[in-house]
This record gives sequence, structure tokens and C-alpha cells, in this order.
Amino acid sequence: MIKAEFLNSIKSELEYIREAGLAKDEYEIISSQSSNIEILHKGIKKNLLNFCANNYLGLANNRNVVEVAKKSLDEYGLGTASVRFICGTFDIHKKFENKLAEFLGFEDVVTFSSCFTANGGVFSALLDNEDAIISADLNHASLIDGIRLCKAARYFYKFDDMADLEKKLQEAQKHRNRLLVTDGVFSMDGDIADLKSICDLAEKYDAIVLVDDCHATGFIGENGRGTAEFHGVEGRVDIVTSTLGKSLGGGCGGFIASRKEIIEKLRNKARPYLFSNNILPAVASAGIEILDMISHSKTLIKKLAENTAYFRKKMVEAGFDVRDKNGVHPVVPVMLGDALLASKFAKIMIEEEGIYVIAFSFPVVPKNEARIRVQISAAHEKDHLDRAVQAFIKVGKKLGVV
Ligand SMILES: Cc1ncc(COP(=O)(O)O)c(C=O)c1O
Repeated sequence: MIKAEFLNSIKSELEYIREAGLAKDEYEIISSQSSNIEILHKGIKKNLLNFCANNYLGLANNRNVVEVAKKSLDEYGLGTASVRFICGTFDIHKKFENKLAEFLGFEDVVTFSSCFTANGGVFSALLDNEDAIISADLNHASLIDGIRLCKAARYFYKFDDMADLEKKLQEAQKHRNRLLVTDGVFSMDGDIADLKSICDLAEKYDAIVLVDDCHATGFIGENGRGTAEFHGVEGRVDIVTSTLGKSLGGGCGGFIASRKEIIEKLRNKARPYLFSNNILPAVASAGIEILDMISHSKTLIKKLAENTAYFRKKMVEAGFDVRDKNGVHPVVPVMLGDALLASKFAKIMIEEEGIYVIAFSFPVVPKNEARIRVQISAAHEKDHLDRAVQAFIKVGKKLGVV
């Protein structure tokens, strides 16, 4: 039985969260995920221009992809009704994993139901208490949780401080194996990790490199192979974890790419792989179609880069504090500082200007660094970008930000 005191303590915590402007309210979308979406708000339907999805290549509702997924549903049904090693491995899983390995330039790939679970399982499957993990301090929550589940010693370095990383690698020399872990792109800021320096240090201090490339796979680097391609260090990153939930169709699923021995060990030891269902066959089929599309044409990758450069330039010209003015990533954080101001700004953008943006505040970002994180997509047209900039300027003036 849940006691009244317990519920009351939760109620007062929720009240505090709401009053501090930290509540995460959810709008219900009643269309497909796209640059134009329809939401239902207080019983009223509203059309919005969407600037907060991870739909980087605009493939979440691509007609070809959806048709392939529908066909796959007809062929394979909805689910696997089993974990992979019992009777949940379909031929389409293997085809997709092989295709993904080929696209990324790795020997093999293993899929998971999400990247969160991939990151949750990878460390304890590969390391034990004789080993060490050296992790960037701003790494994604799923890496942090995965590291917590592993018995290896933990070292943390400031994500952009290579001197600090070197110090931690030196301290970690006493351990049998060292695994250096970083986000490829730090998604709250759109910062791309300095993988060149990271790989140099990893080689100097004999460390394995693991990169979480959720905000890079499919669109960062000339061919969309991610941050290693962007920095010219392909072949020097040992393990990549990533998601199918963003640029690669925006469905549910994650994966790990590496050497074949590592992947085989993960199939045998990673607990979320052993004890949880894998991706739907339809997601694997759709993934194959997406990889074919982006391997054969760079149009979407180029359009995303052009849209990003255009939006960033216009926002800087308008006087907004855009984190990293020279940045190239489609995550564009518009810094506002105060959590209440940020949530008010986003609310006006949505409810009065028809631009769907979301405010991020503590604990998702540090205190007093509240922001609106704009995300650009290849699905945006120039007119969409102009409308968003105009709305930012209008609301920015109203609230005294510019
Ligand atoms: C850096 C990073 N890692 C992991 C994840 C988890 O991905 P998934 O949605 O596939 O669980 C995310 C998603 O937000 C992410 O941004």
C-alpha cells in the first residue's frame, strides 16, 4: 500500500518543480513527426513548425521508408515475442546489422531495443574490477548509468580538457584495461568531441575508445558516418554506440559497432541484449532502406548542413547568444540563463507564434544555463527557418532578450 505521507512528499516535490519552471510538460502530437506537425492543446488542434525533434534527416515520415516498414509488418508481423538468443533473431535483423557494419566501416554490429540499453549493457559485458573507465563529465545519462553498473574503476575528465584527460589516463595506468568513453556530440550544446586528440591520447596511454554517436550517425561527416569521419579518425575509434531513434528514421532501437570478437562477447554477455526484446523486424527493414538512401545520395546530409549554417548565421545576426558561434551541428542552443524565462519564451513561441521549441533547464543542463535547444532538420525549408528566426526576434524583443 502506498502511504499518504509518501504521496504527499511526491506532491510537494512536483509543486516545487512546477514553481521553479522546471516542469516537463508534454504536448500531444496528432500527426506524423515532420517539420510541420499538428498538436492537440487544451482540446484545440494547432499546426506548428517543429524545431525540436531529432529528426535530423527528415526521415521519420519518409514515404519510401514507411512503405518498406508496412511491407515488413505484413511479412514478419509486429514483434519478435522473444529475446534474440531464444527465438527472436529474424533474418532481417542480421541483414540490417551487416548493412550497418558495412556503412560504418566496422566488422560487426549488434542491435538493442534502444541506445540507452546498449549503453546500459556494454561496460559490464566487457570490463570488470581489474579495468578502468575514463569518462567525459558531460556524457549522456545512459553512459553514466551503464558505467555505474560496471565494476571497473571510474575516472572522469572535463569533456573538452585534454590535459585533464591525459592526467586521468596516467592515473589509470595501473589497471589492466582502460576504456575511454565520450559522447561524439554533446547534445545539450551541439559540441563535437575532439576525437583527434582523444584518439592520440588513447594510443599514447593504451586505451580503448568508445564513442556514443547518437547525435552524429547518419549526418555528421561527409558520408554521415559520424564524428570519427568528421575528424578523420575512422579506424581509430574502437567501439561506436548509437541510436535508430534520431536521424535513422526516429524509431526505437540502438546498436553497437566494433570488432567481431567484441560484438560476439556482447551477444553473449550484454544483459539488455540477453534479457530484453530487440528491435521490431519492421524497424530493421526500414533501417536497411534508410542506409540505402543515404549511401546513394548525400542530398539530405548537404541540405541539413546548409539549413544549419543559415539558421545559425541569422540567429547570431539577430543578437541571440547562440552557444559556440562557429558551431556546425544542427543542435543550436539559444542561451537564456534563467529557467522561468526559458520556459516562458518557449511557451509563447508555441502558443502564439506556432513554432515548436522546448526549453531545457536544470537538471538536464547546469543551473542558470537554461536555454531553448533548436534542432534543425533536412525537412526544413528556407521559409520555415525564416519564420522561426522572425518569431525568435519578436518574442526576444517582447521578453527583453534582444
Ligand atoms: C547521446 C545519447 N546517447 C544515448 C541516447 C539514448 O538513445 P535511445 O533513444 O536510442 O535510447 C540518447 C538519446 O537521447 C543520446 O542523446
